[in-house]
Amino acid sequence: MAEKTVGILTGGGDCPGLNAVIRAAVRKGITQYDYRFKGIQKGWKGMMECDWEPLGLEEISGILPKGGTILGTSRTNPFKEGDGGDMVAENMRRMKLDALIAIGGEDTLGVASKLNDLDVPVVGVPKTIDNDLNGTDYTFGFDTAVNIVTEAIDRIHTTAESHNRVMVIEVMGRHSGWIALHAGLAGGADMILIPEQKYTVDEIVQTIEKRHNRGKDFSIVVVAEGVMLQAEEKDDEFVVQEAGLDEFGHVKLGGIGQVICNEVERRTGFETRVTVLGHLQRGGTPTAFDRVLGTRFGIAAVDLVHAKNFGNMVSLQGNEIVSIPLSEAVDKLKVVDQEFYDLARVFFG
Ligand code: F6P
Repeated sequence: MAEKTVGILTGGGDCPGLNAVIRAAVRKGITQYDYRFKGIQKGWKGMMECDWEPLGLEEISGILPKGGTILGTSRTNPFKEGDGGDMVAENMRRMKLDALIAIGGEDTLGVASKLNDLDVPVVGVPKTIDNDLNGTDYTFGFDTAVNIVTEAIDRIHTTAESHNRVMVIEVMGRHSGWIALHAGLAGGADMILIPEQKYTVDEIVQTIEKRHNRGKDFSIVVVAEGVMLQAEEKDDEFVVQEAGLDEFGHVKLGGIGQVICNEVERRTGFETRVTVLGHLQRGGTPTAFDRVLGTRFGIAAVDLVHAKNFGNMVSLQGNEIVSIPLSEAVDKLKVVDQEFYDLARVFFG
């Protein structure tokens, strides 16, 4: 008879390394703590609907290098409905769960934090390719995304050079420019635009013209999808693909790259093209770094459960895996600091 039953769920956007976390938590939980696991399907949606599948050594076999999540995911927010939190608490009892491991970003862990206030025994694992979760130096998935974007920049470089074009590359990053900045630096971009900074179109055009005035005949501009351009006539606004909000109140971003592309071509006369990398950045196999980080997080998460250290999230600080309160993790976003951005500016233009 297993000592305890633990649920695991993955919520929000998928992310390379999720399966590494699941594998590690289940492996240690079963072999060292004699736990039984239930794989909650599609994030908080599964907790609302009591939708789970058995999660044993057989199910986790061979999943380490696989992208995505074997549990499925959704952007369901239980707290969107008045009694959603109580329903999750009740479903913990109905599914006979002694504890829950929630793997996710600010939204998923925001729900976990509120559930902790309702005495649901939950621990969190920080996931997002955006790397913008507070209290951890890195989230898994970020390194994979940065490597994918860096490779894309390298490839776009050679075609930019051949055609003497300005190439605008739009990358993910709703509120923070970590992917744009890291990949832009690694790929030698000539300008990197991130949501933490304010820009006018004039400023972007001037930077490109400065470069071309010193004899260069192509440029690479990396822009995070959450960048807002400053306009005199109206308040700054996100560029979005379509109207409407998801359950956590987020717009569907996309299109800033095209806006910049059009403006640069119109004002400079340089032939300009845009590439939107989109979900390529989240798909496929995780890097070795993300596999190892995910594995360390999974082990630490099941250790938190075993120690009954609920209401906490595992985190990477320096090279140590520690734990911090979920409330602290979701209290604010971790954004790019000015000093780091100034370092990148050395290479602009
Ligand atoms: O939160 C991670 C993220 O990849 C963001 O960078 C991006 O804005 C969003 O998810 C895209 O979400 P979806 O997969 O719902 O299109």
